[in-house]
Amino acid sequence: MSAADAGTTAGASRHANGELREADRAAAPAETTPARIGVIGAGYVGLVTGVCLASLGNQVTLRDIDEGKVSALERGDVPIYEPGLDTLMADHRERLTYTLSLDHMLEQSDIVFIAVDTPPTYSGDADLSRVMTVLDELEATGADDRHILVMKSTVPVGTGERVRAELEARGLGKVGYASNPEFLKEGAAIEDFLAPDRVVVGDFEPQHGDAVEALYAPLEARVVRTSVPSAEMVKYASNAFLATKISFINEIANVCEEVGADVAVVAEGMGLDRRIGPAFLRAGVGFGGSCFPKDVTALKQLAGNSGYHFQLLTSVIEVNELQKRRVVNKLKKHLDTLEGRRVALLGLAFKPETDDMREASSLVLAARLMAEGTRVVAYDPVVTHPGDLVHGVLDAESVEAAVAGADAAVLVTEWTSIVESDWAALRETMSTPILIDGRNALDPAQMRDLGYVYEGIGRNGR
Ligand code: UDX
Repeated sequence: MSAADAGTTAGASRHANGELREADRAAAPAETTPARIGVIGAGYVGLVTGVCLASLGNQVTLRDIDEGKVSALERGDVPIYEPGLDTLMADHRERLTYTLSLDHMLEQSDIVFIAVDTPPTYSGDADLSRVMTVLDELEATGADDRHILVMKSTVPVGTGERVRAELEARGLGKVGYASNPEFLKEGAAIEDFLAPDRVVVGDFEPQHGDAVEALYAPLEARVVRTSVPSAEMVKYASNAFLATKISFINEIANVCEEVGADVAVVAEGMGLDRRIGPAFLRAGVGFGGSCFPKDVTALKQLAGNSGYHFQLLTSVIEVNELQKRRVVNKLKKHLDTLEGRRVALLGLAFKPETDDMREASSLVLAARLMAEGTRVVAYDPVVTHPGDLVHGVLDAESVEAAVAGADAAVLVTEWTSIVESDWAALRETMSTPILIDGRNALDPAQMRDLGYVYEGIGRNGR
């Protein structure tokens, strides 16, 4: 039993079963004394976390091992595309320090967030080697009982227990530990951090969880206090559930195509049921990104490693893989053969407002089309040089350049600038006006009126 499950802490209430407890909003202090915070890993999550915590008045030292990244940050350059991050970083630069030195970071901080990568390994398990390297470094530099490690990275359930054992083995048993998973959506990460649906804090010793909870007090967010394994599981279960919703609506879309129904209307009708809710019911060419595919696979693997076959998640993953390829058959239906045809891919990033290409559906689609002998021309407002990602894909500088002379166009990522294109003018430049809307972002009737052979995902009924 963990300390978090065992008893009560001053100023906070626990559920009778001792497991989940939600801190009373009203009891949360409106303001807290600024904390000295360290962040290990100035990647996407680390940077957003550090900058947002600095914006709440804390002193933040971000440490990364990449010299180029650290000097870019010192110059005020933001190495990732995330709306609002550059401004927030500039506004609070006096509270932000960037360093290569872990020693320096430890001197300057009491609460240390770990935000290193936990990429999937070949087996589908999460790779914890970077987390373990951090522990080795902490041993070498001498972290002490003043420090509380806070796991922000998504890690398999059981990692906290393992880290605690590793700390003890290294003579660092007095270093505190808490789990505080991130729920940041790329493109809306600042808002997600500063106005979260919930903050989850798991601890072994309540005083460590209290220190982490206090950081979020200015946000007046709902805080779920629990054990470390439960906090770790909340993150995986949330992402797996959202991914399940997407694969579910994608399968409904595929059935809609068979029976002549329109998935957009079906999703709207379903979403009005408050038990279901309207979010994450947009059918399309599948989910991608750095979190969903990795976390769903890791949870499936975690279950498998403990002897449980997670059947539902196995299907969620398979449905998503097949969904990315369905557009190829739609194109074949209209073009007969894809060999030698010119196909424009509009949007490449795994979703709008990001330059992230990790697990993007466009990668699978482009590679499949290239394998069919298709000439693929791609445009994305932020991602350039698609040929570096899938060999042979041609780079277009605009929607117009991508579509000119094309036998078909596929809307892959629903960037506003692409959705709001002059579709009437584009149609005139195409060889054949076949338009596959992989995100159901366009109005089918309007596109057909403009003379397109339009096909969405699951929208045959309209
Ligand atoms: C996600 C989670 O939302 C976030 O809480 C977690 O911490 C990290 O993973 P993110 O990867 O930024 O965030 O992407 P999100 O906006 O959630 O979208 C994920 C993918 O699902 C995208 O490819 C998107 O296009 C797709 N999607 C989303 C759908 O296909 N249909 C939907 O209805 C919603």
